[in-house]
Amino acid sequence: MADSNVPNKLFDKYLDAIFINHNRFQFELPDNFGNSPVSVIVVANNKFRGCVPASLGNMLRTLNEIILMENGLRSCLPPEIGLLKELTVFDVSFNELMGSLPETIAGMVKVEQLNVAHNMLSGSAPASICKLPRLDNFTFSYNFFTGEAPMCLSLPGFDDRRNCLPSRPAQRLLAQ
Ligand SMILES: *[C@@H]1O[C@H](CO)[C@@H](O)[C@H](O)[C@H]1NC(C)=O
Repeated sequence: MADSNVPNKLFDKYLDAIFINHNRFQFELPDNFGNSPVSVIVVANNKFRGCVPASLGNMLRTLNEIILMENGLRSCLPPEIGLLKELTVFDVSFNELMGSLPETIAGMVKVEQLNVAHNMLSGSAPASICKLPRLDNFTFSYNFFTGEAPMCLSLPGFDDRRNCLPSRPAQRLLAQ
C-alpha cells in the first residue's frame, strides 16, 4: 500500500492555506505543525487519533481559521491555543477531546465561531469565553459539561444540548 502519511515538511513550506480532507491519513499531527505560516488550515475527516499539537500557539500572528473536524483527535486542548489572537474560526468538533476548556481561550480576541461539539469535554463553559467581543456562535453540544456561565445563553449562536447541565433542556440522561 502507498505511504499514506502527510510529510511533516508540508508544515515548513511557505503556503497560504492547507486543506487535507477526507483522506485516510493515519498519523499524529507533528510537532512542527505550528511552523506553518498559513492563515487557513482545514484538516477534516481523517484518522489521526493523535493530539492537538501545542505548537499551534506558534501560529499566533498568521492563523485566521482552523478546522480540525472529525479526525479522532484524542487529547486535552492545549492552553497554547489561547495565544491565537488573530483567529476567527476554531472548529475541533467530532473528535475525542477530553478535559476542560482552557481559560486561555479568552485570549482569542477575534474569534467569531467556536465549535467544540461532539467531544468528551467536561467542566464548564466560562464567562471569560462567552464574553469574547466578537463571538457569534459557541457550539458545545454533545459533551459532558456540568456548568455554563449565564451570559453564554445570550450569544447570538449557541448550542449546549446533550451535556450534563442541570436545569437546561435536552441534556443527557434527562427525560424531556
Ligand atoms: C453555529 O455553528 C454550528 C456549527 O458550525 C452550526 O451548525 C449552527 O447552525 C450555527 N448557528 C448559528 C445560529 O449560526
